[in-house]
Amino acid sequence: MPKIVTLPGDGIGPEILEPAVGVLQRLVDGVEVEEHVFGGASIDAHGTALTDEVLDACKGADAVLLAAVGGPKWDTTDPNAPRPEQGLLGLRKGLGLFANLRPVRPVPALLDASPLRRDRIEGTDLLVVRELTGGIYFGEKTRTADSATDVCTYSREEVTRIAEVAFGAARRKVTSVDKANVLETSRLWREVVGEVAQGKDVPLEHLLVDNAAMQLVANPSDFDVILTENMFGDILSDEAAMITGSIGMLPSASLGQEGDPGLFEPVHGSAPDIAGQGIANPLAMFLSTALLLRHGLGREDEARALESAVDKALDQGLRTRDLGGTASTAEAADAVLAAL
Ligand code: NAD
Ligand code: IPM
Ligand code: MN
Repeated sequence: MPKIVTLPGDGIGPEILEPAVGVLQRLVDGVEVEEHVFGGASIDAHGTALTDEVLDACKGADAVLLAAVGGPKWDTTDPNAPRPEQGLLGLRKGLGLFANLRPVRPVPALLDASPLRRDRIEGTDLLVVRELTGGIYFGEKTRTADSATDVCTYSREEVTRIAEVAFGAARRKVTSVDKANVLETSRLWREVVGEVAQGKDVPLEHLLVDNAAMQLVANPSDFDVILTENMFGDILSDEAAMITGSIGMLPSASLGQEGDPGLFEPVHGSAPDIAGQGIANPLAMFLSTALLLRHGLGREDEARALESAVDKALDQGLRTRDLGGTASTAEAADAVLAAL
C-alpha cells in the first residue's frame, strides 16, 4: 500500500489538510498516512522547521502532501532566528525537487469569479514550470549591520533539466521568462533554453519577466507552458492564480528524479489573516491531492475523479469566501465528497 507523509504546517494548514486526507483515504483503499510536525510548529517543538527525522520520513514515503507554513509568530528580520520557510526550502532541496509544476486552468463555473474579464480568461490552460532548487533562493547570503547580499546562481545543468521538463509538458509552445536584458544568470538561462529547444517540435519564445507579468493579465490564453527561474516563477504564479478566481484554487507538484517522492502542496501560504476560523478554501489542497494521485501514485483515474468532483461542486454553486460566497471549509469539503 502507498505511504504518504503529510505535513499540516501552520495557519490554515491543518484546517485544509484534514479534509484532503479524508479524500485521499476515500480514493486509495488502505493508503498509509503518516503525519509530522513541520514549519513553525516544528520550530516550537524542536527549534528547527525541518528535523532530520521528518526529512528521512519524507524520503521514505511514496509522496509528501504539504499544506502551508509560516505566520507572524515566527516572522523576524533576525538572520540567525529559525524561520518556517527554511523547512520548505530544506525539504525541496533535500528531496531534489527541481521541477515545480503549477497548472492554471480556470474552472468554467468560476469564469466570473476572477477580477479579470471573462472574455480575457476564457480558454486559458497554462502551466507554470518553475525551477525550484536554484537561483537567488539558494545562493550564498550575507548580512552585516549595514548591507546584505543574496547571490543568484544557475548552472547549465540546472537550466537544461528544467527546460527538458517544460518541453516535455508543452503542447503548443514554451514561453521562457527571464530578465536577460539585465541579469547574467538570465543570459545563460536564455542560451541554454535555446539549445534545449533545438530539435524539439514545440516552438520556443522568450519574454522578459516584466512584459510577462503584463501579458499574463492582458492575454493569459495565449500562454501554454511558462518556463522560468525560481523567483520569477514564485511571483508569476500568484499573479496567474487570479485567473482562476482565487489563490485558494491553485495546486502544485514538485518533482525530482524519476522514482523519488514528489511533494504536493497548494501555491498559497498559511493565510494567517483567516486562520482558525474554518473559512479557508480547501480546493487548492484537494487539487494538490489530485496531482499527488496523478504524479506521485500514478493513479490517473482517481486524480481525474477528484478534479471532476471539484468542478462539479463549483458548478453546483459551491463558493468559499475568497470566491465571493459564504461556504465554510467543512461545507466545501462536504460538497466535494458528495460530488465524488
Ligand atoms: P498567503 O497565500 O498565505 O495569503 C495571501 C492572501 O490570500 C491572504 O489574504 C489569505 O487570506 C488569502 N488566502 C490564501 N490562501 C487561501 C485559501 N486557501 N482560502 C482563502 N484565502 C486564502 O500569503 P502571505 O499572507 O503573503 O503569507 C503568509 C505566510 O505564508 C507567510 O509566512 C509566508 O511565508 C507563508 N507562505 C507559505 C507558503 C507555503 O507553505 N507553501 C506559500 C506562500 C506563503
Ligand atoms: C511558494 C512560497 C514559498 C516560495 C515560500 C514560502 C518559501 O511562496 O511555495 O510559492 O517562495 O517558494
Ligand atoms: Mn509563493
